[in-house]
Parts: sequence; structure tokens; C-alpha cells
Amino acid sequence: MHKTIIVSNRLPVDLKYIDNKLHVKSSSGGLATGMKSVHSEGNGIWIGWSGLAEDTMNSEQKNEVDQAIAQEKCVQVPLTEYDIDNYYYGFSNKALWPLFHYFQAYTEFEREHWESYVAVNQKFSEVILQHANDGDTIWVHDYQLLLLPELLRKKNPTLTIGFFLHIPYPSYELFRTCPWRYELLQGMLGADLIGFHTYDYVRHFLSSTSRIKEVEVNFNQISYNNRIIKVDSFPMGIDYNRYHNAALEHDTNPEHTKSELMKNIDLHNQSNEESKLILCIDRMDYTKGIPNRIKSFEYFLNKYPEFKGKVRLVMLAVPSRENVEQYQLLKRETDELVGRINGDLSTVSWTPVWYFYRSLPFNELIDLYVSSDIAMVTPIRDGMNLVAKEYIATRTKDTGVLILSEMAGAAKEMHEALIVNPNNFDQTADNIKAALEMPKEEQKRRLDALQKRISRYDVERWATEFLKSLEAAKNNKPPQA
Ligand code: UDP
Ligand code: G6P
Repeated sequence: MHKTIIVSNRLPVDLKYIDNKLHVKSSSGGLATGMKSVHSEGNGIWIGWSGLAEDTMNSEQKNEVDQAIAQEKCVQVPLTEYDIDNYYYGFSNKALWPLFHYFQAYTEFEREHWESYVAVNQKFSEVILQHANDGDTIWVHDYQLLLLPELLRKKNPTLTIGFFLHIPYPSYELFRTCPWRYELLQGMLGADLIGFHTYDYVRHFLSSTSRIKEVEVNFNQISYNNRIIKVDSFPMGIDYNRYHNAALEHDTNPEHTKSELMKNIDLHNQSNEESKLILCIDRMDYTKGIPNRIKSFEYFLNKYPEFKGKVRLVMLAVPSRENVEQYQLLKRETDELVGRINGDLSTVSWTPVWYFYRSLPFNELIDLYVSSDIAMVTPIRDGMNLVAKEYIATRTKDTGVLILSEMAGAAKEMHEALIVNPNNFDQTADNIKAALEMPKEEQKRRLDALQKRISRYDVERWATEFLKSLEAAKNNKPPQA
């Protein structure tokens, strides 16, 4: 019986030593939260990085970490501090992440980072090959591991290899600026199937491939090196029932123990019948449009001052990649903006922005989702955005409005949301007003359509369709001359 091995840089658990004690936390981010339910139901393993530096641990700690990871049906690829600085913070998050999200000015191409990226992809391939038997399926995830498909294929051609990119694939004009563009494509082309969230990303990838490499592209198939590689879009879904049922449970369980945060939200809701909450949940990342969102909320309050005192923006920003300078600058900018706006507009009984810089456990996330009248998901650029889908899944009372950026992959599937360009403050302000004043019947009509689609194309269906398509792609033979 062949097995499926999931491979990603980030495992579903994130480990840390605090005061010599091991802390195991669920990882944040769409890849980890989405794949978690696929993994827990399957019988394969998940290979990735623990979040810790191997060379900072003693042998007792290493054993403890191995055990904690094995309990989650995972296997770790040990990374050193050097790897983390150069492969993870370096090439992955200072070159590929900004480049693929169209933040070209933030992109740093450093040879040392690149060499470490190559070396760590190699490390991953070695660990995988130790655990894979002939004929197994390896499902590789995301931009940190673009070289892995080819490395695996070279060593074991019997493997079936799928690759899925969780972030946007940029246009050729951006991608061509990378000094190692040829090597990156070569790495990805080791897969039998390459998947993206949207058809636009597929198009960009096919266009880069045909311009940079000697390949033949035929619809969504690439002929290369006597092999056929299939390229397709698979919009990732969420574990709909998990979010929906947790929201139902929240509604019905009177014993629900409330966090401080929830108690404050309840106070807000009780203070005035007209008071409304607008929710934002993101990793603290410059692609998420956090400063723009705060500024557009301020713009809204000034354009429609009748809402002052009634509407609050609740912002949960999850700490992310804090060693990278651009993330530190973003944190500072956000702190200052929130401080300024609250300073300018607050009254004794009203603070316009509630801002939390931390991650929350699942049940508190559900509290937040359930208690909000509107979700504002307005990234500058985002591969998919699962928060938008999670908010919709938690609408159990036929109320709630989603404001969604047209720059998120999710906008391609969620037409019934209020779609905005996050750089257009007038349009965003008008849509906030429209969301606040939307009649109940219209809210329900939009939610019904969204829930129907999101519940049908859930994460299980997404994984099944990808794996089915991978199985078919593996049997692809090149056309006879
Ligand atoms: N999330 C989390 N802990 C938090 C806040 C958010 O695990 O404190 C989750 C959230 O529920 C969602 C994921 O992080 O599943 C974010 O995924 P998304 O696709 O929206 O963005 P990404 O972070 O992958 O760019
Ligand atoms: C995005 C990426 C993932 C990544 C996640 C969290 O979702 O697509 O690959 O795991 O962000 O970022 P981190 O750097 O903490 O793993």
C-alpha cells in the first residue's frame, strides 16, 4: 500500500523553548491550518521544520522535540540557525515572498541566501527519501521548497510528485527579475502536477515557463524532458464543518467560558443597540494591507461622521517573521497609526480601533468571528485568504457581511462579498457604509450563496481533487512523434 507524504516548511505545530520548557502551539497561516485536517484524517506523515534551531538544543531537548513531533504524525527536518537566517528569513522571505506578491522594492537577491535555499531544499529531500518507499506520493507545498520536486525525481523516479503553491504566481515581468529564475522553474518542473489557487496564477506560470525554458506548452500541459507536467488551478477551501459547528456550539453553549477579550466585546455590543463591530484577522504581513485598512476606516469615519461612536474596528494581527526588517517597520507603522487615530477620535465611551498583536486559540478566534457584524479582508495581494472563508462559515444566523479585496485569490470565488480595491479609500468607505446598512434579506441572500459554495468546495474536496488529478497526471505519457 503506497502512502502520501505531505511536505512543507512549516509543520502544523510550532515549537518553542520558554524558560527551558517546551511549548507546542498550533501554527498560524493558511497552509498549516488548511492541511491540518487533511493530514489528521489520512494515514501518511507530514515532513517539515519544527520552528526551532537544531544547533541551539542539547541532546535531551532534541529527543523531547522528536517525541512531540512524532505524536503529531510528523517528522522534522532539522534546521540550524544559519539555515533559518539564510534559507527561511533570507531567500524565502526576503526574495520569493515579496517578489511573488508584487512587492519588488522589498526584494533582496543575495547569493548567500540562495545557496542556503539550495542546501536546505537538499536537506528536505534527504529526509523525505529516508521515509519514502518506491511508488509513494509526495505532496510538496509552497515557495520555500520550489527546488524539491526535481531533487526528489532525480533520486527516485518511481515517486509520484505533486506541488502546490499557496501564494500568488507573479507575472513574467516580475518573475524574470530573479537571478535564479531558470533554476526555480527547473525545480518545480520535477513535479507531475503543479497546482495554484487561481487560473490567473496558472497563466502566469505557463507564460514564465515557456519564455524561460525550452518547453512545449499545450493548454495546461507542459512537455519537458520526455515527460508531461500538468498545471491546473485548485482553489483551496477550509474545513467548513469545523468552523460552522464551532459557531453553532458558541451560540448554544451557555457554559461557554469567556475570555477577557470576549467580555469587552459583549460590553461593546450591549452598550448601544446600533453599535457594530468590524473584524480583521491577519498575520502581521505587509501583503495584508493593514495600514491601508486603518487609514480607510479613518477615512470612512470622517466621510460619514454619523458612524462615529457606533462602529469599532477589531484588529487581530498575528506576529509573523519578526526578524525581517520590513515586518518590524510594518509593526511600528501599525502601532503608530492605531495610536494616532485612537488619540484623534476616541471619546470617553468609544475607541475606534481595538488592536491585538498576538495569536489566539481556536475557540477565541471563533468568539471573534461570531461576534462581528462585518469582516474586512482587504489584502494588497494574497494567494487565497482563508480568513474570508472562515468568517462566512461562522455565520449561523443569516447575518454578516464580508468586504473582500479584489487582490485576494478568494475574490475569484466569492462574488457575493462586497469587492473592493484596497487602495481606493472612497470605494472602501462607501462599501463599509453599505455593509453597515445592508438589509437583512440581502445579507442572507449573499451568505446563502457563499456558504453553499464554500461548504461544497471544502478543504477535503480540494485535497481529493488535487490527489486525483495527480494520480491521473502520473500516468501521462508524452505524445508520440
Ligand atoms: N489564524 C490562526 N491563529 C490566529 C489567527 C489566525 O491560526 O491567531 C489562522 C486563521 O484562522 C487562518 C490562517 O491563520 O486559517 C490564516 O490564513 P490565510 O489564508 O488567511 O492567510 P496566511 O496567513 O496564510 O497568509
Ligand atoms: C503563508 C505561507 C505559508 C506559511 C504561512 C505562515 O500562508 O503560504 O507557507 O507557512 O504564511 O508563515 P510562516 O513564515 O510563519 O511559516
